[in-house]
Amino acid sequence: MHLVIFKIDIQVVNGMALSDGRRVLHKFSLEHSDSFKIALQTLRMPSSFNPPFLWGTATASYQIEGATLEDGRGPSVWDTFSHTPGKVERSENADIACDHYHRYVDDIQLMRDLGVGAYRFSISWSRVLPEGTGRQNQKGFDFYSRLVDGLLAAGITPFATLFHWDLPQALQDRGGFISRDISGWFADYAVQTAERLGDRVKHWIMLNEPSVYSLLGHALGIHAPGVTDVTAFFAVTHHLNLAQGRAIQALRATDSSFELGTTLNIQRGVPADKSKASALMAERHTDLWNGCFLGPLFAGEYPERVLPELAPHIQEGDLKATRQPIDFLGVNHYFRVYVVANPSSLIGYDQVDPPPGIPRTDYGWEINPTEFHEVLLEVHERYNCPPIYITENGAFFTDTLSADGKIHDEKRIEFLDGYLKAMQAARKQGVDIRGYFLWSLMDNFEWAAGYRPTFGIVRVDFPTRKRIPKDSYYWYRDYIRGHTA
Ligand code: FCB
Repeated sequence: MHLVIFKIDIQVVNGMALSDGRRVLHKFSLEHSDSFKIALQTLRMPSSFNPPFLWGTATASYQIEGATLEDGRGPSVWDTFSHTPGKVERSENADIACDHYHRYVDDIQLMRDLGVGAYRFSISWSRVLPEGTGRQNQKGFDFYSRLVDGLLAAGITPFATLFHWDLPQALQDRGGFISRDISGWFADYAVQTAERLGDRVKHWIMLNEPSVYSLLGHALGIHAPGVTDVTAFFAVTHHLNLAQGRAIQALRATDSSFELGTTLNIQRGVPADKSKASALMAERHTDLWNGCFLGPLFAGEYPERVLPELAPHIQEGDLKATRQPIDFLGVNHYFRVYVVANPSSLIGYDQVDPPPGIPRTDYGWEINPTEFHEVLLEVHERYNCPPIYITENGAFFTDTLSADGKIHDEKRIEFLDGYLKAMQAARKQGVDIRGYFLWSLMDNFEWAAGYRPTFGIVRVDFPTRKRIPKDSYYWYRDYIRGHTA
């Protein structure tokens, strides 16, 4: 009873939108007693106040835009990396990619026909600030402005990610995320972008999968910027958190109507053999991949087991800055990570294929909707978690163009069906999930694997850039129709 009265008070006394009330409460709960956390949890249970569930699709700037040399865009670390021989399969790059820069009107039409209510895209930092700081590129902002206007005219809510790995090369030359200065550079870029687009874009995602950027980019070296240095890896991990915290603070000060969040890909480690060493390393993976980003954000702390390795990079006040109230958590989920101890690896372990007999996608990633369900419950229960959006989920299966001119991608449909069932089950159990963004709207440049892995529900015929909706596109369209109140 007490909790119900509390909930009504928030609505009436503050007289503000639920999201604002939620933010005030979340901030309050960070600073005050546990009983308020329980009240807050109750407030977040799905209720009649909740907006309709948002169905969407997701993409990222470097993977789809192309036009890398057009209209004043500066180079990013991914331009440098993909143009370095041996880094990307078949030496592919994203100079043209899906040519979305020129075809965004058609792509919006595809989304409109699909019936989505939201679209998650990312801003190319070097398109709007070619040197990363300072000088703005008007034409770069104009592109995103046209995109956002087109989306809104189609009734599609834009969710803009500020950093999906394509750091301006000019900033990498100054140390990139290895330098502490990145937190100021990133906050300034966030504010400058929000000042241009924030009258129309309300949902802002700070980072996409920081664990991938730090681990694959700075320890394993298989993603840009291709660094293999364990000290750099820990510095980058911390600086990503710090940059995120500073950007959230700066954006809050810019516009209180913003819904601010970040995207983590929560993928737990599991030992691939029966050794004690691999069991320990699976826990280490979970720490490095999930805990190192969930902890600083929600609790202002790093997992104890890896804290000594991060400590040299943490300064006084940092963990207060990383712990910011957010309005939503973006969860990406693809697979569980099979881990084998390897003392000669920089991080102490290797990631290996799932054991034989386990269902997998054509990327070798385990298909396991139950794991997705458990991850959602765990995040919800363990952290004082704000509403969740599934900001990415999907699968690569090799598609073939049939004689009838269609792409019958039954495996992708089966995959999506299983994962959506898992998500719906978590919602029924009280996990406050507000939307689902399918990865991806269309086939695109899949980082170091180039154009081979096709994740789209729309095929892109790369020689012509023609878009051909796959069967999964029509399946998702019908699913959305059947699940929209
Ligand atoms: C995620 C990335 C996204 C895409 C999918 C398949 O890790 O965020 O850009 O590569 O994987």
